[in-house]
Amino acid sequence: MKKTLVALAMGAALSCSNLPAEDNSLTIAKGNARWWHNAVCYEVYIRSFNDSKGTGIGDLKGIENKLDYLKNLGVDVIWITPFYPSPGVDMGYDISDYKNVDPKFGQLKDFDSLVKSAHAKGIKILVDMVFSHTSDEHQWFIEARKSKDNPYHDFYVWYPPKADGSAPNDWKSWFSGSAWEYNKPTNEYYLHIFAKQQPALNWKTTKVREELFSVAKFWLDKGADGIRFDVITLNALPDINQSSDLWGKMPMALIYLKMMNDKVLSEYDILTVGEMPGVDPENAYEFVGEKEGPLKTLFQLDIMGLGNDGDKFHPTPYSLVAFKKIYQNWYNGLYGKGWISAVLDNHDQARAVSRWGNDKDYWKPSAKMLATFLLTQWGVPYVFQGDEIGMTNCPFTPAEFKDVEEINYYKEKIAEGKTEAELLPGILARCRDNARTPMQWSSAKNAGFTSADTPWIKVNPNYKTINVEAELKDPDSILNYYKKMISLRKANPAFVYGTVNIIDFNNENVYAYSREYEGKEFLVVCNFRGTHTDFDTKTADLRKAKLLIHNYSSNPHINDSKISLKPFEAMIFEVK
Ligand code: GLC
Repeated sequence: MKKTLVALAMGAALSCSNLPAEDNSLTIAKGNARWWHNAVCYEVYIRSFNDSKGTGIGDLKGIENKLDYLKNLGVDVIWITPFYPSPGVDMGYDISDYKNVDPKFGQLKDFDSLVKSAHAKGIKILVDMVFSHTSDEHQWFIEARKSKDNPYHDFYVWYPPKADGSAPNDWKSWFSGSAWEYNKPTNEYYLHIFAKQQPALNWKTTKVREELFSVAKFWLDKGADGIRFDVITLNALPDINQSSDLWGKMPMALIYLKMMNDKVLSEYDILTVGEMPGVDPENAYEFVGEKEGPLKTLFQLDIMGLGNDGDKFHPTPYSLVAFKKIYQNWYNGLYGKGWISAVLDNHDQARAVSRWGNDKDYWKPSAKMLATFLLTQWGVPYVFQGDEIGMTNCPFTPAEFKDVEEINYYKEKIAEGKTEAELLPGILARCRDNARTPMQWSSAKNAGFTSADTPWIKVNPNYKTINVEAELKDPDSILNYYKKMISLRKANPAFVYGTVNIIDFNNENVYAYSREYEGKEFLVVCNFRGTHTDFDTKTADLRKAKLLIHNYSSNPHINDSKISLKPFEAMIFEVK
């Protein structure tokens, strides 16, 4: 949507709101509304959402066919993971042609049709732009690697070998092994922060920036309502004599984003969300500050680093106080000045209910508790596909792994002498494939995801009991709870704009907070542990407060300000 039209509409809306004309402080907290402030977003992992063609892989038409389901859930925006031509080494995050649709997922006209149908239902679309690297099969890289004087050579990051022929430095790829790959024709190494088939782009080259900015413009002009930017702070890279700890932290990252905003993004009334490693609550204002930030929002993914010993595949218990501190720091850094998002998982993480809840004894209450938490957070919430029905981690065998990250890790550790028995529990607890199993639509073959005999990745065997069809019929289902939570958020601006005050911060079991806005106050209480626990909300006579939602069917045990909480029990009160 072009900005001028919207600015007119916004102007009209603002002039009725009695806001002091020149009051620019805390504009967000005072309700200087943007269309995305109160939006609930939903991440569609396209490969696994819905297959309309019987290929075993989800596609654009498949999404269009499920728009009514999403509308009914209450979703305003869908973020679609990459659907551009790609060899699929990193499941689409290795793009070989930015301005097209991979035939696996459909055609350009399917995108147009999806946008049209979504807009007709009031649903907006975010596209995913992977601008820090391409596929090694992108025409730019095919050219670039041919010779040093090829016009595309400078599109990528090259360094000569050390005197002994080895890689320029010891940087490690985030997908295991060296971050460098040798290229014989030029006798150089190229940088890849992810798989070796994902060469890093060199944003220092003006032409690279121009090309990428034109890609963003292409999709926005096609009607996309916003962009999710993949690992976008990796657009600026340290020198090879510096540490890879600086990845994502180079000052030029912000400057390049400002260039993109000036040239393209600022022309549209869009939602942008950056996946920005290296950005923290202290400097986030520069990136997403309301006044000058080049992007509108960012993903706060710090919680994903909790609960391991430094190796993501070595899970350990996590501290709830550390979890709260992360949210609190971001709130302190940005509330009233800029905007973030709220997520509990995504396509790169284990399933939220398996990680932060309990997918066995307390599957239903813990999934509902997480919904209560997510949808009362400050920041645009993202529901990851399948979480709304409580989809869980999947019992893969190593032969069933599809994701390059866990495959590389597994191979590397086996080569180092580890055994399958030692490795499997940790990998199964945290691997990305957990999030990527097909959406469980029904108890029919392959969970109703595809009519093909074999979907591209294993279907979670629990689909016979955990599926949309069954949950739509059950008033007490996780799905119906999500629907209620989404409408509760929308009906009460306090959950969008309100202050957050965490109660009993150092409590390791309970995450409780009030959200207050324009004379209204809500109290949210979430037991994050699978044990009974007593909690003092410090809110006088809770029996007089209105209980808005509760994840158990029996009444909560309240005594004045105290609640005796069951495992993973959660509730929201209207206090004022
Ligand atoms: C982001 C994506 C992830 C991908 C990586 C490299 O983190 O979410 O799926 O593997 O970037 O593009």
